[in-house]
Amino acid sequence: MERLDKVISSQTKYSRKEIKELIRKKRVLVNGKNVLKSDLKVNSDNDLITIDGEEIKIKKNIYLMLNKPKGYISATEDKNEKTVLDLVPEEYSHRNLFPAGRLDKDTTGLMIITDDGNFAHNILSPQKHVRKTYHVIIDIPVTAEMVEGFKAGVMLNDGECKTSSLEITGKYTAIVVLTEGRYHQIKRMFGCFGAKVIELQRIGMGDFKLPNNLKLGECREFTEEELKEVQE
Ligand code: URA
Repeated sequence: MERLDKVISSQTKYSRKEIKELIRKKRVLVNGKNVLKSDLKVNSDNDLITIDGEEIKIKKNIYLMLNKPKGYISATEDKNEKTVLDLVPEEYSHRNLFPAGRLDKDTTGLMIITDDGNFAHNILSPQKHVRKTYHVIIDIPVTAEMVEGFKAGVMLNDGECKTSSLEITGKYTAIVVLTEGRYHQIKRMFGCFGAKVIELQRIGMGDFKLPNNLKLGECREFTEEELKEVQE
């Protein structure tokens, strides 16, 4: 059981003071009944809470997918740069959201934004082997040597990368799958073969694929099914 005002403030943009006022004005109902005190104990799994007749749908955590455009950094705030949080709709501003993992400023594609630290840890930890799939365009032809090298594990200046896969999809294009996420990893891996990454887009995590209808800069919640696919 939790305090009513605490439950409402975790799920809406109302401040504690505003919630007190809403209750005083009898705009809040619990299971259809007026409440008088903000510290009323409620069970957020079973009790129906409404404000002005509208149900408050209790969500423990939020999981958003963003199709990240270029020009945004993977941080929650920054003095000089635009961050991926700037692309999250205002309705989520009361949540402590953060990007689960990083994409470079000039990388586009699938980014998960959540307030669930455990979930973020699970999908990012190299031990969990969640696959991150990228579409890559480089400045020189992709070679069989690169394919072999990625499979064997490329040595970077901060140690050897875990094996990854590189599939050639065109003269200059490839699909790369990683299960870890080091700083500028794909760019540095191609750098070992004298290649420069021109375009980098994350197109999937686990079994989940960036939906075609999610436009650049757009953000929406995962369905439960989709979320399971990420963790596969
Ligand atoms: N590897 C990179 O070099 N950059 C990214 O943004 C992601 C993977």
